[in-house]
Amino acid sequence: MEDLYKKLMAYGETDAYPFHMPGHKRKNMGDMNPYQIDITEIDGFDNMNDPNEIIRDLMERLGKLYGRKYAYLLVNGSTAGNLSSVFATTSQSDSVLVARDSHKSVYNATFLRQLHVDYLYPNMEGRPYAGPVKSEDVEAALCRNPEIKAVVITSPSYEGIVSPVDEIARVCHRYHAALIVDAAHGAHFGMHPELPGLPEEADLIVMSLHKTLPSFTSTGVVLWKEDGLVKREQLEEYLHIFQTSSPSYILMAGISRCVSFLETEGREYFQKYVDNMKGFYNACGNLKHLELLQEKGQDLSKVVIYAKPESTLDGKQLTGEMIMEFLRKEHHLELEMAQFNYALAMTSIMDEAEDLKRLELALKDLDARCQEMSTEGVSLKDLDALVSHIMKPKEKVMEIYEARALPSEEVALHDAENRVSAAMISLYPPGIPVVVPGERIDRETISYLEDAMKIGLTVNGLGNHGKNLKVC
Ligand SMILES: Cc1ncc(COP(=O)(O)O)c(C=O)c1O
Repeated sequence: MEDLYKKLMAYGETDAYPFHMPGHKRKNMGDMNPYQIDITEIDGFDNMNDPNEIIRDLMERLGKLYGRKYAYLLVNGSTAGNLSSVFATTSQSDSVLVARDSHKSVYNATFLRQLHVDYLYPNMEGRPYAGPVKSEDVEAALCRNPEIKAVVITSPSYEGIVSPVDEIARVCHRYHAALIVDAAHGAHFGMHPELPGLPEEADLIVMSLHKTLPSFTSTGVVLWKEDGLVKREQLEEYLHIFQTSSPSYILMAGISRCVSFLETEGREYFQKYVDNMKGFYNACGNLKHLELLQEKGQDLSKVVIYAKPESTLDGKQLTGEMIMEFLRKEHHLELEMAQFNYALAMTSIMDEAEDLKRLELALKDLDARCQEMSTEGVSLKDLDALVSHIMKPKEKVMEIYEARALPSEEVALHDAENRVSAAMISLYPPGIPVVVPGERIDRETISYLEDAMKIGLTVNGLGNHGKNLKVC
């Protein structure tokens, strides 16, 4: 039987390079022996759940980086930040407005809090992924239901799409609704003029430090707006509930190391990184068959690799999984995720020019071979249908908590048409639900899930190895 520890140690010795999170890119940030610093709340080392000394100082230093008085530490990821934020802004049975491209932790929060959920479906506008949330859509939803107490949006998205958060916040506040921004992928925002700025008007901003900055997996922050709609004590109460009572000093040391690094060397590293990224995009500008999808305002750290539909052979397009596998097998580059027709490479300030050069050369190699490879791909027509299904509104029959409270049974996925789902089903990554409990399953969704699995994407939430679905 394989041993995880040994396997990780051996993998660390290979030439495989991570274009995925965490943002430290497995590069050493100091001579740290994790055993030596793994303590509990002993004298002199403060307590994250009641911080008064050294951890309070760390919160202040972290807050200063983001222009806030202090920032709350997360050691259970943005997942805990989202759960706490939804609880801090609502009471049981309240109404909330949730962008449909939210992470599953947001849906789980609405389930646990027994909320009535209205959805905002971000428009795709020709992209193979969700576009920004529009303030007029938020306003229309709040106008329809003035009882909404909180609005949750994701900005930036996994692909680096940024919504007009401050504009949306002003709309929310006119309707007395708090705005929670899941900025799990935006902890590096505002750290260089050519990166998107940090919003100022949102009541709560949840960020994963580990996704885009050199910090250990599971670390993050919540930024609380001092003159916003959320009471600080309420946020703190739920952070204490949703986070562990034994916060890891290894993780907190990692946050402290990351903050020191940003305080002292951040400016220089970000400048070098932005220059390197511009060089990388320039060098990839003349790819013939591949395209790196980057639009104005999109976060440049996310490299979205897409095979141009007009460059494919036999009406077939390279899938994201094929792109990801080629880069892994032929160039030992591991990407963050694959979707139907694109793959995503995550970069960070820890990527150096030579690391980006590896990606550039690998993409040039793929560019030379992708037309012939596309004959093994999936028909453009099928891919188009799959891609456009992602943000199609589903019929909501009941709330998530109501569906989960009902007796349920497993049926074959193929026979689940017209039944109401008792399961949350998502492609992982990114972990955005395709179906949530309480929604009716239609034939298109069944085909979508079957095709996703055929293409090799991981579908979470089905039973019996993807063959069954729990319905109520
Ligand atoms: C948009 C978004 N929000 C929240 C999360 C959860 O973050 P964490 O892994 O830090 O708990 C993720 C994870 O991928 C995410 O993509």
